[in-house]
Amino acid sequence: MKPIMNLSMFQKRLFAWGMGKANASDARTIKLIDCPDYGSLGELKQALLGNLQNQVLEIGPGAGANFAYYPDKIYWIGVEPNPYMHPYLEREAQKHGLSQIKLLQGTAEDLPVEDKTIDTVVSTHVLCSVKDLDRSLQEIKRILKPGGNFMFIEHVAGEFGTWTRRVQDGIEPVWKTLYDNCHPNRETWKSLENSGWEIVSYQQFRVSFPIVSPHIAGIVRKQPL
Ligand SMILES: C[S@@+](CC[C@H](N)C(=O)[O-])C[C@H]1O[C@@H](n2cnc3c(N)ncnc32)[C@H](O)[C@@H]1O
Repeated sequence: MKPIMNLSMFQKRLFAWGMGKANASDARTIKLIDCPDYGSLGELKQALLGNLQNQVLEIGPGAGANFAYYPDKIYWIGVEPNPYMHPYLEREAQKHGLSQIKLLQGTAEDLPVEDKTIDTVVSTHVLCSVKDLDRSLQEIKRILKPGGNFMFIEHVAGEFGTWTRRVQDGIEPVWKTLYDNCHPNRETWKSLENSGWEIVSYQQFRVSFPIVSPHIAGIVRKQPL
């Protein structure tokens, strides 16, 4: 007898449901540690996303946790591979008054968008999960207009030799299976720093969650012509 839904589909649906539930939580209650400029994740998102204009493409928008921070006049494109996230995204966009939205199924490694067409690309807690980080960064650069910005908030590997890093390295095989290919020990900053971006602003800080505490956030820019 054929199963009605395979495990991977079940996990994707469960993940979407969980992310949808998480939308009710307030990012302003997530405090940032060792971050001189912002007190909470909500404040940081407001600073990064609150003044965006024109064409914004978000990779892996999940269930739409960032809609609360975007200005409602932007033209938003979401590239989300998990189709079970899409209904949550549509609902959340409507709730926050974003009317110009386009949802695409695809991946950061192969963005279904023309070269040099996007003003800003956004990624929050996605680069930990992509299959090919360097290729994703190349794709982001390809679709950005010259001088366009890439804005990110990502959890990353702890410093080598710390307990956090040892736990991340040990738990990684189980963690990525449970959490939709999320790698807790990814050295995302190395790829970012080595892929030819102009750094506009860049911070390292922690949040008070175990395993995924170390974070980086900032803005990098594609070279103007
Ligand atoms: C931890 S969730 C974060 C969701 C959202 N960005 C947020 O901050 O709430 C990771 C998201 O990345 C998506 N994702 C996983 N692999 C991806 C890929 N290769 N390209 C684009 N998105 C991906 C997942 O489907 C999921 O929506």
